[in-house]
Amino acid sequence: MHDYKEPWKIRIAGAVNALLHDAGQDEDVKPADIVTEIPPRPEMGDLGFPMFGYAKRLRKGPPQIAAMVCEKLTAQAGSSFTAEGPYVNVRLDRAGTAAAILPEVLAEKSPYGRPGNLSGQRIMVEFSSPNTNKPLHLGHLRNDVLGESVSRILAACGAEVRKVCIINDRGVHICKSMLAYKEFGEGKTPESEHLKSDHFVGDWYVKFHKMSQEDKGAEERAQDMLRKWEAGDPETVELWKKMNAWTVNGMKQTYERTGVSFDQYYYESQTYLLGKDEILKGLEKGIFYREEDGSVQVDLTAEKLDKKVLLRKDGTSIYITQDIGTAIYRHKDWPFDRLVFVVGSEQQYHFKVLFTILDKLGFVWAKNLYHLSYGMVNLPEGKMKSREGTVVDADDLIDSLKEMALTEIRSKDREDAVGEASEVAEKIALGALHYFLLQVSPAKDMLFDPKESLSFNGNTGPYLQYMGARISSLLRKAEDSAAKNSSGKAGEADFSLLTSDAEWELIKVLGGYNDAVAAAAVGMDPSFLAAYLYEVSRTFSRFYHDCPILNTENPALAEARLALSRGVLRVLRDALNLVCIPFLEIM
Ligand code: ARG
Repeated sequence: MHDYKEPWKIRIAGAVNALLHDAGQDEDVKPADIVTEIPPRPEMGDLGFPMFGYAKRLRKGPPQIAAMVCEKLTAQAGSSFTAEGPYVNVRLDRAGTAAAILPEVLAEKSPYGRPGNLSGQRIMVEFSSPNTNKPLHLGHLRNDVLGESVSRILAACGAEVRKVCIINDRGVHICKSMLAYKEFGEGKTPESEHLKSDHFVGDWYVKFHKMSQEDKGAEERAQDMLRKWEAGDPETVELWKKMNAWTVNGMKQTYERTGVSFDQYYYESQTYLLGKDEILKGLEKGIFYREEDGSVQVDLTAEKLDKKVLLRKDGTSIYITQDIGTAIYRHKDWPFDRLVFVVGSEQQYHFKVLFTILDKLGFVWAKNLYHLSYGMVNLPEGKMKSREGTVVDADDLIDSLKEMALTEIRSKDREDAVGEASEVAEKIALGALHYFLLQVSPAKDMLFDPKESLSFNGNTGPYLQYMGARISSLLRKAEDSAAKNSSGKAGEADFSLLTSDAEWELIKVLGGYNDAVAAAAVGMDPSFLAAYLYEVSRTFSRFYHDCPILNTENPALAEARLALSRGVLRVLRDALNLVCIPFLEIM
């Protein structure tokens, strides 16, 4: 795999090692440990190697070391190096580098953007994991795209990835929508109300909250219902099955719409008893204890956490009970090297406690559990009224983005040009949404601004999609004119012709794709790739502006520029897929 920085890392390591040996040190510096930076201004060079790290061992100032390293380096055709303060700055051989990178980017079956740093690892990624009392909301959309994108990125690095979802389908909150429906629903169905089935269920949950404000017995009746459910009362179980199917089916439609999918669904109703068993086992072993009121608890004060109830005094289980069962079940089911939980930052404490308990229970894999925590996402004040007045519904939000995209297409008179306008609008909506959500590091809270997300010339998803469509159109035109000139097939491009500043910047950006994918995987942070995509698009835009392609006099240069554009399109398309942004041929 070509890394254009590699040959220089080797040379710099060689020079530094020679200096170390001269100074009587025998510990070698490896090329992989050589720190590489991009100099702040292009005229300073393409790569900068800081010398701070060797000052102690060499007992010299970094600027002096930089000068000495330059003395040890030998000149290479087409490239040059200088000491600038504490840095060795290198200007690369443009023609040679282009000729090395581009064939790899363009090769039919190239592993480009597949760094392989995680090959052999089995990673399970849990995400979305909704409750079945109400439909998905904006927070889920951030979760879903984060989980899906991280999974794709880990797989691109060679990991075997299993995407899983746990549906939290039991508990008193689920009984609340069931209770309201039972008492006031009289034969109503999603069809009869013309509602998407998960919205239908969610509306009953809202109704429960309204009714429980006046009817003080409602909470108690919901608890009764949970006890009946746990005891297997047929009528309650029947109602539960019916309503859960409505919710889950509705959610699956939303997943499909957003391009999210799972290799396996787990259901809390199937794992919570397992959790109970584990807790009773732990009680026998003395890892947990029974409190005077009859509840089972664990004391984690030695681990700087609190005491935690694991089974209520009436024996019913709580949120963490099922998580213990589910984790154990999953590891048996699919022994993983790592399990990643994509869950909001408000559950940080929950996951600390969960991981500590599993460790106390003696599961060696407990140290391989990781909470990928993400911040809150809200709409700016007054941007969109939600159905319930509290959270923003996922489907409603996508619908309104789609509507806005469609308006934009119509206002530009592109309705006929784009083909199926409604489909294109849907893809633009998803591109806008997903890019906006992923461009921010997961840990940060954020505001989702629908209008800004859709802007065609900002740092947005649609801008990236537009760049893809523009390159596609360029390549179509090139093919047409090649066909007309009947010169037929594209010849071997001579990449060494691509040495102007704009071409060179673009080639370097393409050369950084593997690093961008690897960085996103290591940090489990797709924002690295989002930033990379923006960089690719901006750099292409400059190239497109500076370098005529179809109307150059020089056919060999046109050929090389077209091949470069093809390479950009390939990387762009691949990276868009990793961050769940639909690609559009025409826009
Ligand atoms: N359903 C939970 C909620 O909405 C999130 C579940 C997260 N995953 C887990 N294994 N606890 O809060």
